[in-house]
Amino acid sequence: MDLGIAGKTALICGASKGLGRACAEALAAEGVQLVITGRNADALHEAAQALSARHGVKVDAAAGDITTQAGQDEALRRCPKPDILVTNAAGPPVGDWRGFTREQWLAAADGNMVASILLIRAVVDGMAERGFGRILNITSAMVKAPHPALSLSVAARLGLTGFVKTIAPAYIKANVTINNLLPEQFETDRLRSNLSKIAAGSGRSLDEEIAARKAASAAGRFGRVEEFGAVCAFYCSQQAGYLTAQNVLLDGGMYPGVF
Ligand SMILES: NC(=O)c1ccc[n+]([C@@H]2O[C@H](COP(=O)([O-])OP(=O)(O)OC[C@H]3O[C@@H](n4cnc5c(N)ncnc54)[C@H](OP(=O)(O)O)[C@@H]3O)[C@@H](O)[C@H]2O)c1
Repeated sequence: MDLGIAGKTALICGASKGLGRACAEALAAEGVQLVITGRNADALHEAAQALSARHGVKVDAAAGDITTQAGQDEALRRCPKPDILVTNAAGPPVGDWRGFTREQWLAAADGNMVASILLIRAVVDGMAERGFGRILNITSAMVKAPHPALSLSVAARLGLTGFVKTIAPAYIKANVTINNLLPEQFETDRLRSNLSKIAAGSGRSLDEEIAARKAASAAGRFGRVEEFGAVCAFYCSQQAGYLTAQNVLLDGGMYPGVF
């Protein structure tokens, strides 16, 4: 299917690896020009070069922490008028909610809610004026099925989820959609590092922990990042213009509820 977005410009946050990178790969394969962000400048420039060489599109790198004002300014300086925005940043720490400090709650809110809101605010009215916009926020399956150890992440991401539902209907007439992608157990560095910590605490090896997780999952495997990227590309397509304010679970059937 031709997604009809060749020649568009996308700002993709947190895209040197993992799920953001998968979105970048899928959009570049559709002929979308990219500006990608990440904190580690070397890894980011390497990713930009690889994406450009593989897909033959222009890829610019905006190095910096996207949860800070400086990081957002740099991303928007390099990509002031994106047609597509994918917001994404590392999740906050896990732990017992009673132990988190006020600063940790505020940092989680900043990183996984406010940063996305500010980026959306900076670009959404321009998208509406130009008659096309696709905004996707990478959140987490935990917003639908919260885990007690992830209270910081759930609280912040649900704030963003509520915000999206608040504003998205006002933009659909202008062909601007805003949706959230909710991953669970995709094979990325972040997943491996989380599982290493869990394995260390339980006396299992990382390989044993991975095997146990896969065996316990409905799909019998972890998600492949290409599968995530493909869904991102479809939600950014011309064809997806009637789809907005959705929370799209990509969890291999793990969620136990109906809605
Ligand atoms: N993988 C899963 O199954 C899963 C499940 C639930 C939720 N999530 C959420 O999905 C998001 C992406 O996860 P992932 O698995 O793709 O992680 P990952 O493999 O660690 O990749 C994260 C990417 O984002 C960049 N990044 C992180 N924080 C950033 C920041 N503040 N500013 C700019 N760039 C930043 C990283 O580069 P630098 O480190 O160089 O900045 C890297 O390119 C996270 O919020 C995670 O909590 C993932």
